[in-house]
Amino acid sequence: MIKVINLENQENASYYAAIQIIKQLKTQSNSVLGLATGGTMIELYKSLNHLIHVNCIDLSDVKTFNLDEYININSNHEQSYKTYMYNNFIKQNKTFNEENFFIPNGNADDLQTEIERYEKLIKHYGYIDLQILGIGENGHIGFNEPGTAFTSKTHIVNLEASTIEANSRYFNTSEEVPNQAITMGISTILKAKKIILLAFGESKKYALRKLLDGNIEESLPASILNKHSNVEILVDNQALGI
Ligand code: GLP
Repeated sequence: MIKVINLENQENASYYAAIQIIKQLKTQSNSVLGLATGGTMIELYKSLNHLIHVNCIDLSDVKTFNLDEYININSNHEQSYKTYMYNNFIKQNKTFNEENFFIPNGNADDLQTEIERYEKLIKHYGYIDLQILGIGENGHIGFNEPGTAFTSKTHIVNLEASTIEANSRYFNTSEEVPNQAITMGISTILKAKKIILLAFGESKKYALRKLLDGNIEESLPASILNKHSNVEILVDNQALGI
């Protein structure tokens, strides 16, 4: 079941999401969190880092799995999702154990082995307790592009031209944006006990409207969330078009 909550702006919605994460961590100190990257999440990590600090949350038993990573990007590159996580979350949280930070390795010699390893690792930890998701302008979740099977596990993707274009705002030129990635699969994401999706700004209006019209189709990957039992979608006015 999907519950949509309009918090009017990104700041409020990010704070609300961070509170949900804190509640999860207070209930279960060894939670497995599914984490996301992208512009949408910047404010969320700021609020989360603050709330972890003021609530003295001990993260030493928390495991985190990131949704995705580019293929063939140096892990020290400022736009790799690994670097993003260090800059926005890991460096700020001294109690977090880096050994509990998991992200696909887009530079692995054998990518096939890498995707199988990642999927097995998530399974080993009992899948995700709380998954945070953004949404692509074309309705992708993680890097599961339109047409991806709802049954997919962690896999390699060729990014759509529109995704490369959308992500080029984080690089100097669109030629620099990697054109492949590893992503958690849709079936992997759906095994999460609870999912919180954040969508802000007018550029997400189309995907959000399609997601909320209730038709479940592989041409809009996020539409499968209609089948999950516990999803909250946090939005601002622009994403709702009001
Ligand atoms: C990216 C990521 C997604 C993210 C989405 C939106 O390509 N792979 O995980 O949710 O697209 O990104 P942004 O928040 O920057 O708009």
